[in-house]
Amino acid sequence: MKVAVIGTGHVGLITSATMAYLGHDVIGNDLDEEKIVTLQRGQAPFFEPGLTELLEETLGSGKLRFSFDSQEAIRDADVVFICVGTPPKASGEANLIAVESAAKDVARYASGRVVVVEKSTVPAGTSARVRRTLERERPDFIDKFSVVSNPEFLREGSGIRDSLEPDRILVGAESPEAFEVMRAIYAPLVEKGAKLVETNIETAELSKHACNAFLAMKISYMNALARMCERSGGDVDSVAEVMGSDERIGRSFLNAGLGYGGYCFPKDLQAFERLASRLGYDFGLLKEVERINDEAVDATADKIIDVLWNLDGKRVTLLGLSFKPDTDDVRFAPALALGRKLQAEGATVVGYDPQAMANAKSEMPELEVASDPYTAAAGSHCLVLCTEWAEFKTLDLDRLKQAMAYPLVVDGRNMFEPEEMEKRGFSYYPTGRSPIV
Ligand SMILES: NC(=O)c1ccc[n+]([C@@H]2O[C@H](COP(=O)([O-])OP(=O)(O)OC[C@H]3O[C@@H](n4cnc5c(N)ncnc54)[C@H](O)[C@@H]3O)[C@@H](O)[C@H]2O)c1
Repeated sequence: MKVAVIGTGHVGLITSATMAYLGHDVIGNDLDEEKIVTLQRGQAPFFEPGLTELLEETLGSGKLRFSFDSQEAIRDADVVFICVGTPPKASGEANLIAVESAAKDVARYASGRVVVVEKSTVPAGTSARVRRTLERERPDFIDKFSVVSNPEFLREGSGIRDSLEPDRILVGAESPEAFEVMRAIYAPLVEKGAKLVETNIETAELSKHACNAFLAMKISYMNALARMCERSGGDVDSVAEVMGSDERIGRSFLNAGLGYGGYCFPKDLQAFERLASRLGYDFGLLKEVERINDEAVDATADKIIDVLWNLDGKRVTLLGLSFKPDTDDVRFAPALALGRKLQAEGATVVGYDPQAMANAKSEMPELEVASDPYTAAAGSHCLVLCTEWAEFKTLDLDRLKQAMAYPLVVDGRNMFEPEEMEKRGFSYYPTGRSPIV
């Protein structure tokens, strides 16, 4: 099928490449001209494992092209995926201006029947607005448009695998014809066993928010438990093991730490809560989840202040700046929220990340960055493990300790082994577990 993808960010680019890999003829479009030029050269504008190779393969096969010209992308498309950003407004509601703008482009440039697919995460009810936009902009063409919700569940860091081996593909549509088109689009994955779930549009839109809010809730639940463990002498990791061995609960996402971040959970949770409120339902649980998440960063900052006393003139090293491992994305990264708090208290904050240093520096110009963990730790009074990159597991702890002014580690992801830290002579402050002082 002929596919246009509007927005070639984390979701749109991976969608473009995987759709081309599945055999469709794809044109990726973005209003960021520089991004399109980069992509045309075969370079990925952000770090995602396997993406460069997939781009090389699909650009090479001629199945994938990129164009700055939305008319060229949309004109002959059977299916248009809208993958633009839906950032939060100051109120927490999703800002859907880019979705409206993409819908207008589709209305303007479509030349035949086209299925318009919302892949961006949007509040329930958005499809009706997209349909109204299409109707207003192109009243003569309205029977040619079908609107579909096909929320994206990929996770940055494993986005390609998640797209090619999804837990489920969710399609909400308004007509049998639109379902047919979406079945054809995903046929290569369904033939390999992927589960296709078909619902009405509102259910699909709601399900995406429901999943992200629920996952965020699991994290916040564990962070609230971490606070309880710290006050009572319990061990949150052991509690997680006990909880996780109950198959009704499951072990994944039961990790206490600095909390969630990134471009999905924080904004989606807020948007979901605001949607509930707009629908006349007080979903107070979601506000608590957000509060506990903010508290996770505050609690870590308080721990550092408690141990170091005055931060003025002290140096704190952050290991890991991206919001999670295997991505260079620092949007709403807890590490940066923590860094800002420590700086506000007077600390000099220096960071190291295997991939996200440039992005972190542009988000937080006053952050010092170092080319490796040991240089980052040099002269440091406290090292904070913020993001659990695999390479931090194999750090030379003796070398790290030697480099530091005080041998003090705050573990925001419970990545290090307490016994090992004790053996190496660190004062070690994990999250929700007993410190080694
Ligand atoms: N990042 C994730 O892991 C993830 C996962 C699932 C769902 N989502 C959702 O997918 C959507 C996109 O997220 P993202 O992380 O890819 O965002 P992103 O910011 O990385 O990419 C959005 C892209 O859209 C482009 N764009 C904006 N308006 C446009 C327009 N009118 N025409 C053409 N291009 C336009 C931007 O230039 C940018 O390149 C969001 O709704 C997000 O919540 C994201």
